[in-house]
Amino acid sequence: MKPSTLHLGILGYPIQHSISPVLHQYLLQKLNLQGCYHLFEVKENDLQDAFRGLQILGFHGCNVTIPHKQTIITFLDQVEPEAEIIGAVNTVLFKNRRSWGFNTDVEGFRRSLKLHNLPLAGKKALVIGAGGAARSVVYALIKEQIGHVCLVNRTLAKARQLVEEFSEKLNFPDMTYELFEEQNIKLLLPEVDLIVNTTSVGMWPQVDLSPVKIDLDLENKVVMDLVYNPVKTKFLNLAAAHGAQIIDGLEMLIFQGVKSLEIWTERKIPVDDLFEKLKNRLIQKLQNHEPN
Ligand code: ATR
Repeated sequence: MKPSTLHLGILGYPIQHSISPVLHQYLLQKLNLQGCYHLFEVKENDLQDAFRGLQILGFHGCNVTIPHKQTIITFLDQVEPEAEIIGAVNTVLFKNRRSWGFNTDVEGFRRSLKLHNLPLAGKKALVIGAGGAARSVVYALIKEQIGHVCLVNRTLAKARQLVEEFSEKLNFPDMTYELFEEQNIKLLLPEVDLIVNTTSVGMWPQVDLSPVKIDLDLENKVVMDLVYNPVKTKFLNLAAAHGAQIIDGLEMLIFQGVKSLEIWTERKIPVDDLFEKLKNRLIQKLQNHEPN
């Protein structure tokens, strides 16, 4: 392998439908960087071997996705403080024979909100789900001075754990949690300014599912779905039909990818000029179910 070429990739399972290769190949090409971004389907038991393999073969870095974002931490030499608090790493840099873990989902979520100039200070957010993605979202919201976060999750104990952990580690007491049930959501919806779905409900091929049934006016509310396949989920369509401002999951995906590339290349990547074209490229890829 040529050392001047950036050797990158993503480890996950299942991974065939990931559009990260399209995202990164596009960025590498537009930035005139020589590099390749590979897709590696790796099961839980093979993660350590696969990870060491990339390091030994001279990869510059990799992304890590479901279900490895937590497990990977045990194999890393160093984890940046933000990722440590969140408990999830999605980006690894190999440098000086050491491996460094980062969480770029936080930056991805933050920049996606910034793109829409949303003032978050003092506002109320409802976060659906309590997994790895929810942890990054809640962390980012707290850093953006959100006033209150209410978490709903199918498994109540996981929501409780997140709330207890974050209120202590981040000294943020304004969090509550409930069971993810229609009745609870119905009571919460009128109270909140921002609603974020971090679960996989509504993801292709289950495109007719929405995590929440909406039957009230959502004007002046912002609804965000981290699911990006399809880009306009049933949840987002319902929310828009009830007057909400909607934000799709592709934006967060793009910004987390840009941040990963910034870490690997150790340079700032100006993305404003290519954002729309890149987003359209990804939409086209998703619509056509093109191979990676
Ligand atoms: P990620 O890293 O994408 O967050 P994860 O850590 O596996 O993935 O978390 C998935 C989240 O989606 C969890 O909150 C999960 O709820 P549980 O904690 O009860 O498992 C939620 N989730 C996934 N499928 C769901 C479904 N069909 N209905 C409700 N919640 C679901």
